[in-house]
Amino acid sequence: MNTLCLPADEAAVRQAAELFRQGQVVAFPTETVYGLGANALDEQAVRAIFAAKERPADNPLIVHVAHSEQLEGLCEVTGTARKLMAAYWPGPMTMLLRKTNAVPDVTTAGLPSVAVRCPRHPVALALLDACGLPIAAPSANRSGRPSPTTARHVYEDMQGRIPLILDGGACQVGVESTVVDLTGPIPCVLRPGAVTPEDIAAVAGQCTVAPSVMRPLKEGETAPSPGMKHRHYAPKAKMTVVVGGDDAVVSELIRRYDAAENAVILAHDSLLSRFGSRRVYPLGDTPLATAHCLFQRLREMDETGCSLILAQGWEAVGEGLAVMNRMARAAAFDIVQV
Ligand code: TXA
Ligand code: MG
Repeated sequence: MNTLCLPADEAAVRQAAELFRQGQVVAFPTETVYGLGANALDEQAVRAIFAAKERPADNPLIVHVAHSEQLEGLCEVTGTARKLMAAYWPGPMTMLLRKTNAVPDVTTAGLPSVAVRCPRHPVALALLDACGLPIAAPSANRSGRPSPTTARHVYEDMQGRIPLILDGGACQVGVESTVVDLTGPIPCVLRPGAVTPEDIAAVAGQCTVAPSVMRPLKEGETAPSPGMKHRHYAPKAKMTVVVGGDDAVVSELIRRYDAAENAVILAHDSLLSRFGSRRVYPLGDTPLATAHCLFQRLREMDETGCSLILAQGWEAVGEGLAVMNRMARAAAFDIVQV
């Protein structure tokens, strides 16, 4: 199959909407990462997403809607869900709600809940509006690769597998949406994102965070979200994350770099000049800036052919939680506190 990559102008959005109506798979930008979409209510179309991604069938998809009214008939919208939508939609927040029979089991991997989100990217919104369908869309990477934050990343992973990629430039947020489970008595964050647990608690009154957000699953423990048990966001090289005060982190990164063969350093922008002639790449100067460039950097690191990535982390609180959740997984939880 020939994969077209088009700037996301009006004509391209119309073309993508038509492909959705025909049951095809199209990649499109959102404010978090690129999505690989198809009609969420069409079993065959949804199966084609799983095939293009090589995604395990037990990992459910997020259903994207143009506005909250489109949830009618798809899921049971609770009072807390209404409050959260009013505060954070359109935006990087996905809610788990009880599904109706209208949503096919393939979309939710047989689970009784469905994940729903209204993205805030103008291209995503225009596309959802133009097709008038709820669109199931996981991140547009091949399974096990970092989520794509540019159309080029999508092309690298999906070339020959899908008919069309809409290019809307680099994604602003850079890490996937917050997934919050609203099927229990208290909202629970299963995957942290740009909408923080504090943001959710401010609207819903309370919010917990699943323990597996910052540690590996224990043996025999069931994942609250199937996505957590699959290997994720893993660069080819071994990766270690170092967290602490700037001076201590710089010394530790240098010590490990000098002891290794073929290492690279990822450090906060303000510290780059402290590594001399060592190979070092910028990781932003705030947790949000790191989130924006992290997946891009991980893809670049694969291209360098390095065998060890030494990365400076953040404290895993507030906006730092989302970025540390991704860094921890990329590093197989090899996090060093200095
Ligand atoms: O920002 C995002 O959310 C992007 C863009 C494209 O919207 N999408 C995305 O989808 O990251 P995906 O499929 O890569 O991640 C969805 C996560 C997975 O970890 C999945 O297991 C979880 O949400 N999930 C989806 N439906 C679920 C359900 N019913 N119960 C529990 N977890 C669910
Ligand atoms: Mg994904």
